Amino acid sequence: MEIVSKASRMREVAKALHARQQSLAFVPTMGALHEGHLSLVRRARELADTVVVSIFVNPTQFGPNEDFTRYPRDLESDCRMLSALDVEYLFTPEVEEMYPEDSRTFVEVEGWGGYLCGTTRPGHFRGVTTVVAKLFNIVTPDFAVFGRKDAQQAILIERMTRDLKFNVQIVTCPIVREPDGLAMSSRNRYLSPAQRQAALVLHHSLLRARAMIERGESNADVIRGGMKKVFDGEPLARVDYIELVDPATLRPVDTIRKGTLIAVAAYLGTTRLIDNWSAETP
Ligand code: PAJ
Repeated sequence: MEIVSKASRMREVAKALHARQQSLAFVPTMGALHEGHLSLVRRARELADTVVVSIFVNPTQFGPNEDFTRYPRDLESDCRMLSALDVEYLFTPEVEEMYPEDSRTFVEVEGWGGYLCGTTRPGHFRGVTTVVAKLFNIVTPDFAVFGRKDAQQAILIERMTRDLKFNVQIVTCPIVREPDGLAMSSRNRYLSPAQRQAALVLHHSLLRARAMIERGESNADVIRGGMKKVFDGEPLARVDYIELVDPATLRPVDTIRKGTLIAVAAYLGTTRLIDNWSAETP
């Protein structure tokens, strides 16, 4: 695996691959890799001849009181995992190159960045779409693979790709969970043992929603109420939001339909976790 830190080298590699008609699949990450990330890399392996993974802790997607400086960084272990999956290139750009001091241009999916996670994380998705646009321009992938763990992010990136005519196919992969159901996340390592146990409440609330829907409940308020009750039983967790939305518009629905996105966010201490489930019924 070649570790590429300069955008110019990354462009050169991509250009040579395209010239040889080699397809390229790209997995953007912020590192501290776990099985969730690795599932995307395996999917990328199936999709294309060459896999590029990026690790870049993107400062513009963190709010002023968020965890940018203490976000876990473990390049050595990340490299081992990626080499084991035969990844050809790891792109690790520097902040100074991605955001020169005089850079002034941002990419924003208007309006949608303010919904769901955007309410408590203003500017977060502007940072995400900006960095992903920059990465797409440098890596020029044929495919880019994202996890449905960050459902809103995937939806915004699909829309940005469409709106800005990026020549890349967005592929999404299912949420990878710990054996007890907690969605894997780089932030899980912040949790104390008690918080780690309590964090299951996100998954449990989604299971409650699913059980209600499978029993025939379709009223969004009633389902939200059932999920809220699950959270009420866990004093270590503080709900940020429980939302039932149309994935095409991210707007709340009154009635569940096939594909309705049920998304939750909650704080365990200062750690904010998210999870979601897409209704398969009715
Ligand atoms: P990061 O949180 O490192 O996640 C990188 C990718 O891994 C995202 O597409 C995310 O949805 C996926 N992922 C994380 N946990 C997962 C899980 N448990 N199951 C399946 N997929 C999972 O998301 C970002 O980084 C950044 O916002 C980024 C897109 C790299 C832009 O900076």
